Amino acid sequence: MKYNDINFNKKTILITGGAGFIGSNLAFYFQENYPNSKVVVLDCFRSGEIFSNGNLKSFGHFKNLLGFKGIVISGDINDKKLLKELENNYKFDYIFHQAAISDTTVGEQDLMIKTNVNAYEDLLKIAIKHNANMIYASSAATYGDSNRFEVGYELPNNAYGFSKVMMDNITASYLKKDLDISIVGLKYFNVYGPKEFFKNKTASMVVQFAHQILKGLTPKLFEGSDKILRDFIYIDDIIQANIKACNPKKSGIYNVGTSKARSFEDIVNILQKELKIENGKEYIQNPFVGSYQFFTQANIEKTREYLDYEPNFSLEEGIKAYIPEIKRLFKEEVK
Ligand SMILES: NC(=O)c1ccc[n+]([C@@H]2O[C@H](COP(=O)([O-])OP(=O)(O)OC[C@H]3O[C@@H](n4cnc5c(N)ncnc54)[C@H](O)[C@@H]3O)[C@@H](O)[C@H]2O)c1
Repeated sequence: MKYNDINFNKKTILITGGAGFIGSNLAFYFQENYPNSKVVVLDCFRSGEIFSNGNLKSFGHFKNLLGFKGIVISGDINDKKLLKELENNYKFDYIFHQAAISDTTVGEQDLMIKTNVNAYEDLLKIAIKHNANMIYASSAATYGDSNRFEVGYELPNNAYGFSKVMMDNITASYLKKDLDISIVGLKYFNVYGPKEFFKNKTASMVVQFAHQILKGLTPKLFEGSDKILRDFIYIDDIIQANIKACNPKKSGIYNVGTSKARSFEDIVNILQKELKIENGKEYIQNPFVGSYQFFTQANIEKTREYLDYEPNFSLEEGIKAYIPEIKRLFKEEVK
């Protein structure tokens, strides 16, 4: 599926975080639609190291790239020497910056800011030197406790959300300069879809609930889940936004969601219907109260206007499209 007239064949494309969920989907998007594009994936992959919350330090997994024919570099975006090598050895046309500590519950603020904020600016400098358009992942977590989901109303309530606000601030300051490149920050809302499985506990609740249901377990929801509403967005629409962000009508920071808030109960109901397993629901206490978003809903007016973005998948349609992969994962990966 082609989302605009850009011919990415013969273009050199850097995808940081390309062994992760969204980055690997982007890598295959180019491979499938523009087989003559030169795609370079940079990812530090998983090492077994964990943060104090018990989760892996990085989720990159080779299985997300099985069948990928481009260049794969295992390395850390915090490694200045590596960045210099990339700057000297390549000439990028587009940089899709997805690498980050993507786990919103990580408490190590030092590494969070270094990785998410400072390394972004280093990559932005490479983009400017190469004359490459920069498209990077911001997040709905920037809105935190805000009840207005528009750029300018951010109120992050964890270090992760803060780090993404700082990336957006860097962007805003660079956009004041007279640059030849475009810079687009995409504030993804809650993304779900193929290749997220290796995010383990930080994968979307869609895949986690689905596998609970397939295991014959009663899905466990937080108390009041019918009133916890989020904007859940299918991966294909995230790819659409990234591709359209390559030639924006205007550089800037844009929300990427469906503009419809749905509940965690809705997810379970749709999954039970699609999987044809009606096994009830169980309610547990929410341990994250205080740093948890109870409502998110993307305002996508500007995304429509400046990126020509229009979500194609409702929650029902996204889950339906995802079911075959959910079943494959359950057969081949779920222990
Ligand atoms: N999935 C979502 O719902 C969502 C929502 C909002 C924003 N985002 C953002 O989108 C981007 C992609 O997220 P994702 O869901 O694909 O997560 P992910 O964890 O699957 O992907 C991030 C990748 O970055 C790599 N990485 C981490 N630290 C690195 C480092 N120091 N050097 C090199 N590589 C490193 C990881 O190995 C991983 O493969 C992230 O920036 C994330 O913050 C995701």
